[in-house]
Amino acid sequence: MEPYRTVCTSFLLSMLLLAVFIRLQAQPTEPINYDEAKVPVYTLPALLKTTTNQTVHDKSTWEKQRRPEIIRLFEENVYGKMPRPYDQLTYSVTHEDANAMAGKATLKEVLIEVVNHAKSVKINLVLFVPNQPKKPVPAFLLINNRGKDNTDPTRAQKSEFWPAEMVIDSGYAVAAFHVSDLAPDDSVRYVNGVLQLYPDRLTANNGMRAIGAWAWGASRVLDYLEKDASIDAKRVAIVGHSRGGKASLWAAAEDTRFAICITNCSGNTGAALSHRRFGETISRINTTFPHWFANNYKTFNNNEDALPLDQHMLLAAIAPRPLYATNASKDLWADPTGTFLALKQAERVYALYGLTPRLPASPPAINQPIINSPIGYHNREGEHNLTAYDWRHFIQFANLHFRSKPIRYKKAP
Ligand code: GCU
Repeated sequence: MEPYRTVCTSFLLSMLLLAVFIRLQAQPTEPINYDEAKVPVYTLPALLKTTTNQTVHDKSTWEKQRRPEIIRLFEENVYGKMPRPYDQLTYSVTHEDANAMAGKATLKEVLIEVVNHAKSVKINLVLFVPNQPKKPVPAFLLINNRGKDNTDPTRAQKSEFWPAEMVIDSGYAVAAFHVSDLAPDDSVRYVNGVLQLYPDRLTANNGMRAIGAWAWGASRVLDYLEKDASIDAKRVAIVGHSRGGKASLWAAAEDTRFAICITNCSGNTGAALSHRRFGETISRINTTFPHWFANNYKTFNNNEDALPLDQHMLLAAIAPRPLYATNASKDLWADPTGTFLALKQAERVYALYGLTPRLPASPPAINQPIINSPIGYHNREGEHNLTAYDWRHFIQFANLHFRSKPIRYKKAP
């Protein structure tokens, strides 16, 4: 009996060791840098130089040459190519309540169905429109990457993640869809959504994955909003938090119909610079979330210096449309300084449009929002989250930029 027990015990022990070994192999081992002194010397790819080494001095060269090059770089290397054509988009209002929020708003639950190659994807949109004024209103559209209860149409559950009442009281419509309708946020199941409509994307190394699918979904919702007479679809702000904020940036870069882009705590492969290697890194994000980005992006794991782009170029691709980014003071994983530096770089493209850079030279203090600027920014005190504080400032930013007369900044020198 004794030898048998010994064999069993050693077998179990070796299995345990093997499991630990496999787990360690699966985990990226590189240490995460939270020390500014350890940020390596890096050179950002030139924002205002074309691939043929021509300097970009004006908005025409920017729009005709450099911006399309930048979009292609991100499609090829990061988010994957986003398929545009589809066979059909239909929608139906599945539930309407003209007396929502104690009579202040009309609730519409809309089922948007997009068909391509006989496959379809269904997006469930929750939309509240203020009952006054009786004219098309601008809207905030949230890409919801958290629980669906955050966007509860019954309002039995309320959440700062989507403070619909606050937005309605400010005179805006407020809408949201959930990322799982487009691509479940799971490394195996992410294919069960938009990617069914474009199966060739799945085999391509530059094919979009989950983040691309979510951004694609935001554009399909905008297709619907353009048909909804209660919405001023030329004034829709796309909002995303964290992974949703990576998608809101990509959606706004790809689809110039989004009038304002808001990216909240979006961090690595969102608004923060990758070359700095502060907080989350490319290898970390690609290992933990292998289903977010195009396969090609993995070639930059532990190889940031080889990247022919950085996130300042994505932010710049949103110009001249107003852009608002945030951080949270305790969220070093998302690299607040690297976010601010990326925004500062992007200001150079806003300047090509005569929009004077208004961000300070170095990051503003915590809870000191910069609103009156083509690029807005704040670093909120606290944790990684999307809160009422953040939304209050998004609304102020939109109030400024969605005024009936567009805001005129002094010409850049
Ligand atoms: C993880 C991930 C981040 C992401 C965040 C989120 O922390 O590493 O890149 O932004 O999740 O979506 O909340």
